[in-house]
Amino acid sequence: MTNGPTRRTILIATGATGAAALVASCGDSGGTGDSAPSLSPGQELATTSDIPVGGGTIFKNEEVVVTQPKDGEFKAFSAICTHQRCTVANVSDGTINCTCHGSKFNITDGSVANPPATRPLPEKKITVDGNSIRLA
Ligand code: FES
Repeated sequence: MTNGPTRRTILIATGATGAAALVASCGDSGGTGDSAPSLSPGQELATTSDIPVGGGTIFKNEEVVVTQPKDGEFKAFSAICTHQRCTVANVSDGTINCTCHGSKFNITDGSVANPPATRPLPEKKITVDGNSIRLA
């Protein structure tokens, strides 16, 4: 009687050829990223002369609207309508206006002047330094 020979199967784990894993990536990493929608804090957004007294200016790329309710008094709000997130379209007659569905917001405090929006435009912090308006 013979027990069958013990068979040993030797698995030789051959290391995958290591060189294949080395993928050189292109070293061009100096992008400027200038298409970013938001402005860095401290960067100049506008000069005071860009903002009409009793009105405002919309900065679509930065998603900010800056108003000047009274001479020398500047405010900034999100330019994204709180109704369904359209970018507000214009500023006239003391209101920031969204033409998607007709909402209006007061230039003094962003509060709703006309529905369907029910929530005010969030205020953004700015600093006015000389004639430079910067996001704080
Ligand atoms: S998204 Fe502005 S009024 Fe509807």
